[in-house]
Amino acid sequence: MKDFKFDVDRVREQFPCLSKTVNGNAAAFLDGPGGSQVPVRVVEKINDYLFYHNANSHGSFLTSKESDRLYWHAREVFADFLNCSPEEVTFGANTSSNNFMLALSLVRTMKAGDEIIITEIDHEGNRSPWRTLEDFGMVVKCVKVDPVDCVLDFEDYREKLSERTKIVAINWAANACGTITDVKKFIDLAHEYGALTVVDAVHYAPHKWIDVKRIGTDFLLCSPYKFFGPRFGVLYVKKEVGDQVKTIRVMADDNTEMPFKFETGTVPMELACGAAEAVEFIADIGAKYEGCFEEELRGCDDGRRKRIIAGMLAIEAYEEPLAKKLRAELGKIEGIKIYGPKEDYPRTPTVCFTVEGANAADIGKYLGEKGIFVWDGDFYAVEIINNVWNLTEAGGLVRIGLAPYNTENEIDRAVSAIGQFCRELRG
Ligand SMILES: Cc1ncc(COP(=O)(O)O)c(C=O)c1O
Repeated sequence: MKDFKFDVDRVREQFPCLSKTVNGNAAAFLDGPGGSQVPVRVVEKINDYLFYHNANSHGSFLTSKESDRLYWHAREVFADFLNCSPEEVTFGANTSSNNFMLALSLVRTMKAGDEIIITEIDHEGNRSPWRTLEDFGMVVKCVKVDPVDCVLDFEDYREKLSERTKIVAINWAANACGTITDVKKFIDLAHEYGALTVVDAVHYAPHKWIDVKRIGTDFLLCSPYKFFGPRFGVLYVKKEVGDQVKTIRVMADDNTEMPFKFETGTVPMELACGAAEAVEFIADIGAKYEGCFEEELRGCDDGRRKRIIAGMLAIEAYEEPLAKKLRAELGKIEGIKIYGPKEDYPRTPTVCFTVEGANAADIGKYLGEKGIFVWDGDFYAVEIINNVWNLTEAGGLVRIGLAPYNTENEIDRAVSAIGQFCRELRG
């Protein structure tokens, strides 16, 4: 990386919501892992679709043809985002829905006693769909997480894998503690046993660039509302695998063509347009900073994919030092315990903590009244937060997540307010 200076003001001016105030304080949106804010251009794209191209698919008249073209264009944009072909990009309401659809599809060709591996670190969006298959006679096993290092236990995974394993559903970045897992290692081993792999990249996608070919997964999920888009879900399906899968959808046995066979009914085309525009927003950030990442981008062909990678590298290079500062400053406050991997371990800029003697909800409320928006609770990472860390009574964790529109001043405000909360707590 050379001569990198992120123009955060240029980013911020595209997000109208950042002008909100609470009790006279500027709102600081540190709630990104729950869903990011949306730039004007994304909303305009959705409006444009609904105003001028709105029609159902596969008609023989103008707006329907335009609609089909725009919908396919969205697949092309996500193909660049993921490094796959447009036929491998499928869309749905959100990641959880896509994953339920996938689970209920795959179970059509499974038999009682087949095994599925999930993990303790995952969000329920990548656990509940697979656990549902227990009702169909499948056996679900769960890989342990180290409660201190917050890293999945690879030896436990190895022991749980066998010829009976048909599916491994794994997390790329944990929304509860930010841990980034070396998913390629898990995927390679799963494939040695002939199991299919499903990667939850929902918390990974807003912070790092994705290459589905490099990790070799069969399926991957992400949710554009976590990276500047509308509420929407994207499911990557490896073509040679998808061709073989019996799916669930309207008249599934007649609709066997990729990618349509993975879309259960009428699709939210306007949201696909908005989601694709969110990726273009990232690519435009990349266009500005490509020169700073010549080394990292060596070998990339010019075009949208290269700009997307450059955009994600710029976002990461901006967010990382802020997150580091946040962890360092929070660590100095008496009574705070940060949950996450060791400092040098791969992680997202998401910082989770408890305050000794306080309920997480009270901290969230205290900060919210000062215009500092953070999440508290279990964020549906129920297993790790409530059962591994036993934080139910403490109200779970407080979670601060960074986005490229956050500023150092917002971090300083958050740290100062949390420090004040702790001092008031101790009297
Ligand atoms: C890591 C992770 N996986 C899955 C999900 C579920 O995604 P969706 O809300 O699109 O169903 C979330 C949502 O917060 C998440 O953070």
